[in-house]
Amino acid sequence: MLVAPSILSADFGNLAKDVQAICEAGCDLVHVDVMDGHFVPNLTIGPVVVSAVAKAATKPLDIHLMVENNSFFVDLFAPLKPGYISFHIEEEKHPHRLIQKIRSLGIKPAITLNPHTPPEAIEFLLADVDMVLLMSVNPGFGGQKFIPSVLERVKRLKALIQKHNPSCLIEVDGGVNNQNIEDLKVAGVDVVVAGSYVFGHKEGYTKAIESLK
Ligand code: DX5
Ligand code: ZN
Repeated sequence: MLVAPSILSADFGNLAKDVQAICEAGCDLVHVDVMDGHFVPNLTIGPVVVSAVAKAATKPLDIHLMVENNSFFVDLFAPLKPGYISFHIEEEKHPHRLIQKIRSLGIKPAITLNPHTPPEAIEFLLADVDMVLLMSVNPGFGGQKFIPSVLERVKRLKALIQKHNPSCLIEVDGGVNNQNIEDLKVAGVDVVVAGSYVFGHKEGYTKAIESLK
């Protein structure tokens, strides 16, 4: 299981330190939640802060866009050379064009689906992306309760991925912890995002990441 701690739950007063610490603790990706106050009812960070995150990180950035104007935000973050940029399918009229744009910038494209969006909605995009992010909470905030129907969606997505693009990864984001990690693994998840679980773990980041792996 690959682990991508969400820095939404980090200490923003000591952000660079926290980012270095999760990288040293063995995370695989650094998950960055970008919210615009329109697509979701919350506002987070822009390229000025994320460039400081990119400098501190020794693992690739996994930028999760929760915004209305995806193409504009791709242009803002592309110079930081993230590993992945994901966009919400619910907010994109021309996904093939956006995927091509992300790839042409040397970044791996990923698509995100809200908890109610069926995996079949993106069947004909799967051949073109490197990862699909299934939300297991409504996007906007850390620390929410896991929605268990994501497990059924993972299984349905896995079958579609096997048909169209077997190397595409499945990532799950929201409410992930040591109680549901086993079910996620069995269902076929490759990458988990964990914010409050990793940053709030009593025994530290290394133990938290190890327990998910
Ligand atoms: C929610 C974000 C998540 C969030 C996860 O909109 O996409 O990445 O920070 O936080 P936890 O793991 O606390 O649910
Ligand atoms: Zn996220």
